[in-house]
Amino acid sequence: MNTSKQNTWNKSSWRTFPIKQHPHYKDKNAIESVEKELTSFPPLVFAKEADSLKEKLAKASRGEAFLLQGGDCAESFSQFSANSIRDMFKIILQMSAILTFASGCPIVKVGRLAGQFAKPRSSDIETINGVSYPSYRGDLINSQDLDKREPDPLRLLKGYHQSASTLNLLRAFSQGGFANLEQVHNWNLGFVANNNFGKKYETLASDIAKSLAFMKACGIDIKTTRQLKEVSFYTSHEALVLNYEEALTRQDSLSGQWYDCSAHMLWIGERTRDTDHAHLEFLRGVKNPVGVKIGPNAIKDDILKICDILNPMNEEGRLNLIIRMGANTIDEKFPTLLQDIHKEGRRILWSCDPMHGNTKVARSGYKTRSFEDIISEIKSFFAIHQAEGSIAGGIHLEMTGANVTECVGGMQEISEDTLHTNYHTQCDPRLNATQALELSFMLAEILAQRNKRF
Ligand code: PEP
Ligand code: CO
Repeated sequence: MNTSKQNTWNKSSWRTFPIKQHPHYKDKNAIESVEKELTSFPPLVFAKEADSLKEKLAKASRGEAFLLQGGDCAESFSQFSANSIRDMFKIILQMSAILTFASGCPIVKVGRLAGQFAKPRSSDIETINGVSYPSYRGDLINSQDLDKREPDPLRLLKGYHQSASTLNLLRAFSQGGFANLEQVHNWNLGFVANNNFGKKYETLASDIAKSLAFMKACGIDIKTTRQLKEVSFYTSHEALVLNYEEALTRQDSLSGQWYDCSAHMLWIGERTRDTDHAHLEFLRGVKNPVGVKIGPNAIKDDILKICDILNPMNEEGRLNLIIRMGANTIDEKFPTLLQDIHKEGRRILWSCDPMHGNTKVARSGYKTRSFEDIISEIKSFFAIHQAEGSIAGGIHLEMTGANVTECVGGMQEISEDTLHTNYHTQCDPRLNATQALELSFMLAEILAQRNKRF
């Protein structure tokens, strides 16, 4: 990257850099007026919250905590409801209870929620019955309807408002009693309760309830202990549409630093992480914790450059590298890369996205992922870190609290032939609630092994 440009960051400086996967708004006046309106709206999160997440991620990078980041591939305007937010929150609480109980370490909970609306696409064009249309790029940009594929700036306003109400409900759930550990039994979702993993969760919930009763008997006031009655829950999304991110970027009045107040944490996708492009330029200037997706073709020099640009002070908890290589590729590509970067002493929170390297198209035409591939990539990720003496610090998942049929396999035995039964994703296939629990029980064992080494 050109150094003179590097020294002059401001929230608009990305505009002079090349950019990929970005909407081209034909009506310049319309986008400018939307940007102006967004700039006048209140921030969705506060600087201090982003700082507190950064401290927790620093712990995760040292192996003293573990990052659980998950949610929809893409949130949707039409499927927006209180129940779906509640069910997503419940499944994250359940997963977190499973992981904490087995591993004994705090779980840092970050949703792909309240702003995860924009999608990079492998192709600009989608062909349906021989006719080509511009690809759907997420509800923040255009519509799934074939006649509404032109990027519409007004969608940025709708995205902001939906994010604000999602966040409002999440804050109420986190602090208003719903997340109280005494409610541990109530987090089990109705349709899960009678299957193997729902029952396994019930047993764990009973153990937690017994521990609480024991603490109470010992004289600990569990009603007023903050850590037991509420949770810290953070939000994140891919910072893809920079007009939106810029408009929500604000200067903290206390520190004078800039924060992207659209979410606590932002990440850059695999397709937009070029070191001399706009997305890195934008995120380098904000103080939030940031992530970068790393696919199988990443090379050492690029990653070191990403570290230099996004984390020049080598600050702990600032930079999360999210590895998404695929079950068949991670064993070949990741060990050398990890060795090379680890040697350089860069402070990185390493997490594993076992979803995006494992997407395939089923015979029926549905995009899917196999549960077995997902588990296999997670196992490889932990084993490679163990061999290198480095820390596997987090997981990044696409999942939902609903009973969807989008990923094949697992104990539930969803097959390619039954994918159509309840397939709803806006974009990529998500784990359903049962698969998410099944994964959590396996991950809990792996994490418990990791923690024994400390
Ligand atoms: C995503 O996280 O939805 C995504 C598109 O990921 P990636 O950039 O890793 O492909
Ligand atoms: Co996705």
